[in-house]
Amino acid sequence: MKPCTIIIFGSTGDLSKKKLLPALYHLNIENRLTDDTKIICMGRSDKEHDEWLSLVSDYVTPKARGGVNADALENFLAKVSYFKNDINDADSYQDLKAMLADPANDFPDNIVFYLSISPSLFGVVGDQLAAVGLNKEDKGWRHLVVEKPFGYDQKSAAELEQVISRNFTEKQTYRIDHYLGKGTVQNILVFRFANLLLEPLWNRNYIDHVQITHAEQQGVGGRAGYYDGSGAMRDMIQSHLLQVMTLIAMEPPADLNDESLRDEKVKVLKSIRPITEDMVDSHAFRGQYAAGTVAGKAQQGYLEEDDAPANSVTETYAAMKLYIDNWRWRDVPFYLRTGKCMPESKAMIAIRFKKPPQELFKETEIGNSHANWITMGLQPDNTLRIELQAKQPGLEIVAHTVGLETNEEEDPEHKLDAYEAMILNAILGDRSLFLRADEVNLAWKAVDPIIEKWSKEQDFVHTYPAGTWGPEEVSQIFDDSCHQWRNNVD
Ligand code: BG6
Repeated sequence: MKPCTIIIFGSTGDLSKKKLLPALYHLNIENRLTDDTKIICMGRSDKEHDEWLSLVSDYVTPKARGGVNADALENFLAKVSYFKNDINDADSYQDLKAMLADPANDFPDNIVFYLSISPSLFGVVGDQLAAVGLNKEDKGWRHLVVEKPFGYDQKSAAELEQVISRNFTEKQTYRIDHYLGKGTVQNILVFRFANLLLEPLWNRNYIDHVQITHAEQQGVGGRAGYYDGSGAMRDMIQSHLLQVMTLIAMEPPADLNDESLRDEKVKVLKSIRPITEDMVDSHAFRGQYAAGTVAGKAQQGYLEEDDAPANSVTETYAAMKLYIDNWRWRDVPFYLRTGKCMPESKAMIAIRFKKPPQELFKETEIGNSHANWITMGLQPDNTLRIELQAKQPGLEIVAHTVGLETNEEEDPEHKLDAYEAMILNAILGDRSLFLRADEVNLAWKAVDPIIEKWSKEQDFVHTYPAGTWGPEEVSQIFDDSCHQWRNNVD
């Protein structure tokens, strides 16, 4: 591992406080940052060095696994410094360049630029860095990490791409989707490709449909101002859930090389059957939470949240059905859904198999045969369960569902946050956890017709009481009357 300088733009923002700095602290404890690695935190305001270090301690302490360790914190803080930077001011970049070049400061030549700022500023920062030559890799590498949202539709994402690619090549660009940094999401690949057992079944001949669910108890809280321009389809489905879907659906890659993986994911996205405007109502559904009770606490409706515009029809719940028109998956529905103010916080995949071709047990107590399921819990727990029918002990032929399951209990002291994997991979130059430009483009292409139609229909949105699983009318997207959401892994 090579030493590097990590420069965080927007280091005083929420993401940096809650995720990036704690992730760096943990990486340091795990010896994943070399001794001479340095972290430069950029922000608009003036801050004394000691004042900043004390703030960083405050951010890291509540997030430190197993409680903060004073020595580890001291060791971490020794790597951290603050640099006042006005994003628009050319002089500030000259100063940054001079500071980096000064041998007395001992900054490693390799640089990760982490843009934890509004995407509308990516262009300015890129241009300014290029103006002082900091994008050039003549002395050390340069990796540019950019946070989501990556555009708000296909067109804006392409524009953003142009802005970034003016100064940084695709190989230098690391587009974050933090779901790919979750160990449980990476486990999908291990489960699929380290077990031969599943491969013969993993296709349209045996799988009836696939469900991918993300539910969270929290509402939009203070984020309504931002969220209202986004909505659940953009916020979760276009990004995280489509990524999970590609991992479920992709072909085995030639190897685990980042480009091989991304090539296969792109093939899946390319094969998504386009949803035309007249198909939107049968393929997508939106809802918005009304007042209710979540986990025993009263929750106000979306429209009552601070900064939520009156009469907004922005969806806090979205579901989508899609088909992947390739040999493996043609005509198998993939149902994706996400919602805020749901009864539980969880993310899971549920795969339903077809029924056996002959209903041998129809005349017995078993009745019509039951379908097998495979469920995978992504959070809060990492679970894997294969459901089978088995005969209950006794004289009668009566069956019940038995589950073969694993539950990888993560030791809370070692429970990794996705950002640790993301930052580590950005340092190592492994892009397998990051989105390639064509992936982003194709993911927008899949949801754009839905977003566009919804944006034109401004007078009505289904509502659901906070603390429930969303509007029942969502069943209109199901292909078959026997399809229904599965809310539990077991
Ligand atoms: C973010 C969305 O990308 O993912 C949030 O912007 C959402 O609205 C979050 O709450 C969910 O992530 P996680 O890791 O908590 O499932």
